[in-house]
Order: sequence, then C-alpha cells, then structure tokens
Amino acid sequence: MTVKDVRRDTVDIPENFERLREVIEEYRDKKGALIPVLQKAQDIFGYLPLEVQRFIAEGLDVPLQKIFGIVTFYAQFYLEPKGDHTIGLCMGTACYVRGSQVILEKIKEELGIDVGQTTEDLKFTLEATRCLGCCGLAPVMMIDDDVYGRLTPDRIPEILKKY
Ligand code: FES
Repeated sequence: MTVKDVRRDTVDIPENFERLREVIEEYRDKKGALIPVLQKAQDIFGYLPLEVQRFIAEGLDVPLQKIFGIVTFYAQFYLEPKGDHTIGLCMGTACYVRGSQVILEKIKEELGIDVGQTTEDLKFTLEATRCLGCCGLAPVMMIDDDVYGRLTPDRIPEILKKY
C-alpha cells in the first residue's frame, strides 16, 4: 500500500466530511476558530491534505492561503499521513553530546526515511525532539509512549522490530 492509496482512502469517506461539516458549524461564529477546527479535522482525517484545507476555507470563509500558511508553519499539523508509530529521537544537548546523531543515522538507514518523513508502509514517522526530560538516560528516544535510553546503534534494529 502506498501513501497515495491511503490518502485517497481517508478523503474518500464521505462521513469524514460530514463530521467536519458539523465541526465547522459548531465553530463558525466563534473567535479564533481556525486552529481548533484544523486540530479536529486532523483528528478526523489523520492529516490535512489540500482537499480538507479547501473544505475548511470555504466553510469558515477564510482564504485557503491563510490556512495553508498555518498548516505549514505549525509542526503539529501534517500535510502527509502519519505512521502508526512515531519515533521521537531526542536531539537535546545531553543526548547530542552522547551521540544521538549516530543513532539518528542508524534509524534513517534502517527505515530509509529522513526526519519529518513517514515510511512507505505507514508504519513509522521519524521526528527529532527537544529534551525529553530524562537526560540521565541519554541518548534517548521515544516510540509512541515507550522510552528507550542509553541507546547504541546496534540496538536500533531490534527495537524497531518490536513494532
Ligand atoms: S537532552 Fe535528551 S533527554 Fe534531555
């Protein structure tokens, strides 16, 4: 299955747009509606493709360009579908000093993607994060809610295999 197939699937479900229409109705006359509507739209579709942005633009009577600007500016919004699992590799100072860059290279090599990208099978999305608050375990990464510390490159394949 390719990313394209999945994209077609999510926007092809009419109920999704029906739900989004209800969200827009609910927020239409409220101030500062745009961000919450975008968040809810992302909850519904999993990401915010242009089709969804256009639907919101028309529904809230906001220029599409403004919406596109927000979606591309905030890291919380995705233009592409996200993977089932999110890898957050800490690039904070303590982790960086203890070799997070080498870990990053290993993950990139294993998955064939760069930071901010999702594997073609939609299994993993790779992100670089700020300090995760457990510097004593540096270098650290999180996969969803699981924390992995004192990482070495040779542990990466075995950890990824669990998912
Ligand atoms: S710098 Fe990585 S956990 Fe603090």
